[in-house]
Amino acid sequence: MIKKIAFLIVLASLVLAACSPAAPATEAAGSAKVFGQADCAPNCTYKEMTLCYPQLGAESDWRTANSASFKETASKLGVKLIFSDAQQKQENQISAIRSCIQQGVDVIALPPVVEPGWDAVLQEAKDANIPVIVVDRSVSADPSLYSAHIGSDMEIEGKRSAEEFNKLLPNGGNILELSGTTGSGAAVGRAKGFREALNPNIKILDSQTGNFTRAEGKPVMEAFLKKYAGQIDGVFFHNDDMAIGAVEAIKAAGIQPGELKMVSIDGTRGGFQLMIDGWLQADVECNPLLGPQVMDLALKLMNGQPIEKEALTDEGVFYPDKAAELLPTRQY
Ligand code: AHR
Repeated sequence: MIKKIAFLIVLASLVLAACSPAAPATEAAGSAKVFGQADCAPNCTYKEMTLCYPQLGAESDWRTANSASFKETASKLGVKLIFSDAQQKQENQISAIRSCIQQGVDVIALPPVVEPGWDAVLQEAKDANIPVIVVDRSVSADPSLYSAHIGSDMEIEGKRSAEEFNKLLPNGGNILELSGTTGSGAAVGRAKGFREALNPNIKILDSQTGNFTRAEGKPVMEAFLKKYAGQIDGVFFHNDDMAIGAVEAIKAAGIQPGELKMVSIDGTRGGFQLMIDGWLQADVECNPLLGPQVMDLALKLMNGQPIEKEALTDEGVFYPDKAAELLPTRQY
């Protein structure tokens, strides 16, 4: 009799098990969690997120706006932000990333100062199950070492700048290039796109870095003006801060607004003012307000949701005719 009852209990439990709904794939697979998924998944909220942002520096107005976007978005959403300023030095960014790994952050968002040299530290983050979102500039590391890239298409920005010169100098001419930080994704991409789209009758006489800063842009322009006096028709700037520094040198040389055709990149308030004052004929947009988009993606990673590997910002070109009207509405 006891044997009969035991048999019936086993049979009933087998029938019940067969009829109950299947467990979710992640549970059935035991420890097979999606890479980067947090313990709170799939219900993590911003309040549970610790985000590391090893900012590359404070070299430009664009960068200041980018840092502000991360700080303001984090405080609005309740994200704990670990922010640092690497002063344009890759070794400082790498140390900041290592410190974030030790602290066990949920996600690292990295705006890389230059393209090469990230493989080892990205591998360390990966080994610690911390996803990395590459922000703004690109890296040359293997894409399997980071989860996503969010930022501008630097080659398109260079191409757009060249198209402006093609219109400004239809009969050709000689131009100079003040390029961004050597080896940075922004400088490499802009230089490449620019050369690919520039009409062959426009010659780049020289290209020197101004490291994306006003302070370095001015002496580079002074040297250019001495070396190429009387031979220049235009100047291409990889960012507005270098254009602002260079305009000081151009003014000091007695050159009037409009004498040289000039195109820059960023679309900051400073760039808009240069357009209003007649120095710049076009400013190609590069949007620094990436905080909300990056934090949205970081939350998806924590929750183990699918994400896009590459998210490029939609941007355009600004011209002097609308500059005065738009300046008061500019956020950076
Ligand atoms: O990577 C974006 C570039 O970096 C911006 O054009 C420049 O202003 C900044 O310093």
